[in-house]
Amino acid sequence: MIRNKKNPPVVSGPSDQPVPGLMDRRTLLSFGAAAGTAAAGLLGGSAARAANPDNLPPHVPEWSQNLGVGVEDAPYGQPSEFESEVVRRNVSWLTATTESSVNFTPLHALDGIITPNGLCFERHHGGVAIIDPEDHRFMIHGLVERPLIFTMRDLKRFPRISRFYFLECAANGGMEWRGAQLNSCQFAHGMVHCVQYSGVSLRAILESAGLKANAKWLLAEGADASGMNRTIPLDKALDDCMIAFSMNGEALRPEQGYPLRLVVPGFEGNMWVKWLRRIEVGDQPWHTREETSKYTDLLADGRARRFTWAMDAKSVITSPCPENPVLHKGHNVITGLAWSGRGRIRRVDISMDGGRNWTAARLEAPVLPMCLTRFYHEWEWRGDSVLLESRALDETGYVQPTIEELRNVRGTNSIYHNNRIQTWLVNANGEVENVQVS
Ligand code: MTE
Ligand code: CO
Repeated sequence: MIRNKKNPPVVSGPSDQPVPGLMDRRTLLSFGAAAGTAAAGLLGGSAARAANPDNLPPHVPEWSQNLGVGVEDAPYGQPSEFESEVVRRNVSWLTATTESSVNFTPLHALDGIITPNGLCFERHHGGVAIIDPEDHRFMIHGLVERPLIFTMRDLKRFPRISRFYFLECAANGGMEWRGAQLNSCQFAHGMVHCVQYSGVSLRAILESAGLKANAKWLLAEGADASGMNRTIPLDKALDDCMIAFSMNGEALRPEQGYPLRLVVPGFEGNMWVKWLRRIEVGDQPWHTREETSKYTDLLADGRARRFTWAMDAKSVITSPCPENPVLHKGHNVITGLAWSGRGRIRRVDISMDGGRNWTAARLEAPVLPMCLTRFYHEWEWRGDSVLLESRALDETGYVQPTIEELRNVRGTNSIYHNNRIQTWLVNANGEVENVQVS
């Protein structure tokens, strides 16, 4: 077993806490406040605030004795101040500048399948472009009958669709090829988010411009300083791509491409061009920087895979995990997320012994194609050390591989597309570590 090499950039285990774990569910009810505080401290990093006895039964807590805050105080709602540690985080040593950088979704602190807009990880190559929608134009040209330029208002008159999709950066988990590196669910897996997009189908836009007979490929380009561009195969564009202007019901956030982004369901995040300014139609791929020098998979023999578009099935247990130690012996809930760029998740298996034996977890509805799927698994922890894993299977029959299986095919030159099975070592004191088993 290989333990993680670098210390966690944030969040320590419960070593400075008595492991409150040694309670059953009934005792937990009476000690719930204390245990809850410990958990909140670890999750939120606000280091174990003790409960104020004046607020506990039989006392009337202070918030019931005074009027609350008036409505005008929060024209745009914010999370509770007690959740202030549930934020996107970056790894300072990872990139030289914040304009070409990434931060990570706090997966360990979320439930369900939707990522709140303010917690969606960001990845940009030239900073966040601040665009006035009145001045934004979207152009379609190349092998089309009618080159067109649209305003945002023009686009909003097309038939509207709303769809739930995950977006995963191809580099998610990219630091873990040569061994477990980061003792954190957020940093090892947090380059993924899942929201409901609203917008128009790319097919409708392409049809309005009229495709020429030799049209086969598209080039999508962003209006940010990086002018990021990617080649998209026409089949995919006509199948399910969207041009989105909303996420989770409100306008896209600036960092997610306001006012317009391309949605390429199931395909690597790099293709989801933000601040979308033009689509050119051609008869062959462009082979831009982002699909040659970057976002290709270098194999052991020095050759690189040309395109790796679809994100293969993957899953991760988000609790327990390094940020969520196990606090109680006895009954516990294991939960996590699974996704596949090739369709629906069919099953998620859980192992307690590093992959020797597996039991199916419960998939929580809805289970949508190319969308995060939430799973739960009931668990009685006896206080022993456990090698906890989840393994996703998708509707094509594909099974999430071990790191060993991935290395056998891909070698260790890769950065992108690391969908290995994650192993969390649950220690006897409840602390959880990122490890790799072979
Ligand atoms: N589009 C533009 N115009 N510029 C960018 O830097 N980054 C890409 C993609 N689209 C990028 C972009 C990458 S690598 C990813 S993973 C996703 O956007 C990230 O989307 P998000 O910031 O909404 O999470
Ligand atoms: Co990316």
